[in-house]
Amino acid sequence: MRELTPDTVTNAVLEQMATTPDPRMKEVMAAAVKHLHAFARDVNLTPGEWIKGIEFMTLVGKMCTPARQEFILLSDTLGLSALVNGLHDRTALEEGTHTSLLGPFYREASPKLAPGTQIAKHVKPGTECVLYGRVTGVDGKPLADATVSVWQTGADGLYDIQENASSVDYRGVFSTDKDGLYVVRTVRPRGYSIPMDGPVGEMVKAQKRHGMRPAHIHFLVGSPGYRELVTALYLRDDPHLADDVVFGSSDDLAVDIAPSDPECPIPGLPSIRFDLKLSREGEADKTSGRVGSDPSAILKGENAKVAAPAPAAS
Ligand code: BEZ
Ligand code: FE
Repeated sequence: MRELTPDTVTNAVLEQMATTPDPRMKEVMAAAVKHLHAFARDVNLTPGEWIKGIEFMTLVGKMCTPARQEFILLSDTLGLSALVNGLHDRTALEEGTHTSLLGPFYREASPKLAPGTQIAKHVKPGTECVLYGRVTGVDGKPLADATVSVWQTGADGLYDIQENASSVDYRGVFSTDKDGLYVVRTVRPRGYSIPMDGPVGEMVKAQKRHGMRPAHIHFLVGSPGYRELVTALYLRDDPHLADDVVFGSSDDLAVDIAPSDPECPIPGLPSIRFDLKLSREGEADKTSGRVGSDPSAILKGENAKVAAPAPAAS
């Protein structure tokens, strides 16, 4: 038996894994092993440090529930979600509105609402505003009947399910009209801290980071024949627009609240206009999976089923 050393163990692992029948799994796992080994060599990782890392990941896993996905939070705070989203954008047939984080608070089960419905159950005086815009193809063609799902925090900076797992508030699913127009009544979003009471929060605090996200509203937009768009708008005047703890905000997604906009479909209220451009759907979009996920579906393993590779021919 040959002797394994820090210089030879990487190749030994790659050789053993070379029997993997699924070519994409083989490619991804080989790269993961190479980079993980390179990381350990780079920092001369000690056994004690690696156990600390394993303990940390164990705590991250234990924190996960249908309402709390600590692994998504970890991926987000390490910039990995933003990187995967940026890579995803590069594979679109056309350059539409850029992707931003889905985050851990999206829920498939949201109420379908008529255009112009207020999504907040309680509206504090002076906070109400209209959110509207057009959903089009990259060529500007209006997309009628597109589905526009929105969700955001309440005035306390918490999502509904953070307050109570079964509560539904500050979220809704709208459809565009024949001109691609969607109209939502909502309240001014506020910047908020990501959940800091778990292992990811401990990591962020140990790094002396502020943990804040700039004020934003999330979108998930779909129309047959077009690539699903997961994005968010960000308020330009938020002090954390440039240093979002999860690297989701960017200038191209920044908007202002207009005190009075003559084009606003509901006059008399401040408004945010956010137009959304969807790329036509390519072949790759049918298998690349959603950007982010409903955390309760992750716990049930529903996403893994969708992404499972085809069984190998025997
Ligand atoms: C969010 O915007 O909902 C979010 C994104 C990443 C981490 C935490 C929250
Ligand atoms: Fe959010």
